[in-house]
Amino acid sequence: MIERTLILIKPDGVQRLLVGRILDRYEQRGLKIIGLKLVQVERELAERHYAVHRDKPFYKGLVDFIVSAPLVAVALEGLNAIAVCRAINGATRPHEAAPGSIRGDYALETGQNLVHSSDSAETAASELALWFAADELHAYQRDIDRWVDGSAD
Ligand code: RTP
Ligand code: MG
Repeated sequence: MIERTLILIKPDGVQRLLVGRILDRYEQRGLKIIGLKLVQVERELAERHYAVHRDKPFYKGLVDFIVSAPLVAVALEGLNAIAVCRAINGATRPHEAAPGSIRGDYALETGQNLVHSSDSAETAASELALWFAADELHAYQRDIDRWVDGSAD
């Protein structure tokens, strides 16, 4: 199924000059960028994004971190985009992330694990609406789409 999902390249990814290499992972896989922006996040947006974690001990540190410097918000579209992006990112705790995943290749610390991605269809829909206005998302065809979506055969 063609899905949409939200990726955040968190402040550590921007500060470590990894934005291009991280974006490349999703693009190389065949996923389509349908929204992209650099954001200095307001605390209110960070709190809404991470509301599911508000009772966890790491919540305040997580919100502090995400507002500490700009991040890159990315909307991606493609076949099974939600599960594919979770796999590209790797396990939450970088020492459990497989080599070849973003976290498995570039991260060591759970609080600085570089990327966020939506974890279900419901979360993806609500997170995309939280981070992008409707006119910031663009539906378009790429000439290569038929070579990655199965329609060329
Ligand atoms: P994400 O939401 O960022 O895609 O990551 P995730 O689903 O793999 O992890 P989740 O459980 O949703 O946690 C969100 C983020 O909170 C930080 N975290 N810290 N110190 C801790 O035990 C801890 N646990 C989670 C991580 O930055 C994680 O990505
Ligand atoms: Mg999560």
